[in-house]
Amino acid sequence: MSTVHDESTHSSCSHQGNNHSSSSHSSCGHQHCNNNRPLQQVKNIIAIASGKGGVGKSTFAVNLAISLAQTGAKVGLIDADLYGPSIPTMFGLVDAKPDVVEKNLVPLEKYGVKLMSIGFLIDIDTAVIWRGPMVSSAIKQFISDVEWGDLDYLIFDLPPGTGDIQITIAHTVSLTGAVIVTTPQDVAMADVSKAVSMFRKVNVPILGLVENMSYYELPDGTKDYIFGRHGGEIFAKTNGVPFLGSVPIDRAIREGGDNGEPYMLSHPESATSKAIRQSATEVVRMVSMMRAAQQ
Ligand SMILES: Nc1ncnc2c1ncn2[C@@H]1O[C@H](COP(=O)(O)OP(=O)(O)OP(=O)(O)O)[C@@H](O)[C@H]1O
Ligand SMILES: [Mg+2]
Repeated sequence: MSTVHDESTHSSCSHQGNNHSSSSHSSCGHQHCNNNRPLQQVKNIIAIASGKGGVGKSTFAVNLAISLAQTGAKVGLIDADLYGPSIPTMFGLVDAKPDVVEKNLVPLEKYGVKLMSIGFLIDIDTAVIWRGPMVSSAIKQFISDVEWGDLDYLIFDLPPGTGDIQITIAHTVSLTGAVIVTTPQDVAMADVSKAVSMFRKVNVPILGLVENMSYYELPDGTKDYIFGRHGGEIFAKTNGVPFLGSVPIDRAIREGGDNGEPYMLSHPESATSKAIRQSATEVVRMVSMMRAAQQ
């Protein structure tokens, strides 16, 4: 397993300690080098990403957020997919609107998680046709104009690709790290590879990779590797990325997403829930290792 925080990749930062002027480290991704960045009351900021669409980023982001909240952590979730927000549906909050207090948005809160999504602000069926600068400014508003308060974890559910939204987030906040979600299939790997290299370029550590839709368990207990076998795990090993776990295909996960009742809550004791919880535990472990390495 590779180290999660390779000092050598942070060529623009020569910082070794904590008592420094943050302004001289504006291009460095280290958490401790970004004292001038927003969200100072948030201990850990995690991006859930993948180059490829439809692999389960939002599903994992939702269930990770709930797993963390169930441990007693204070958790927020930003739906950064401005073009196709999923969080309002996945939390059963399609018609909900946030309050505004002194020009700031108050995040909605459900299942112990604070939430913000473009879907709470505009009709979810309206196509967002913004160009780069508008997209960046909307993301910055989600970061700076929302009353997040003290949080242990703030999770960004990213859209697919490696575009303006990903880059804006990486440059605006001090990301603790990114979790890559992928299916095991070969066609996903090229996109995953692009996502990994993008995060490395902008000095965001990769916390690890979660393989989603790893297999489908048939009634007789055998496993059908519908999207290929162990593709994500093999990619992680060959690319020096920690492997955080596998989540099987489960009809109830899809149903939970569509019904607004996240799977972790409706099936807390299932094998699949345990697999998700295990991946969440690994995320927390990697975050702790990263922070220890930064001390
Ligand atoms: N492990 C799983 N088992 C069954 N269905 C799943 C699983 N993971 C995700 N799904 C379903 O697959 C579809 C895509 O998942 P999701 O929306 O989370 O992907 P995404 O990567 O966020 O997509 P996008 O790139 O469009 O944002 C959804 O219908 C979701 O309910
Ligand atoms: Mg999504």
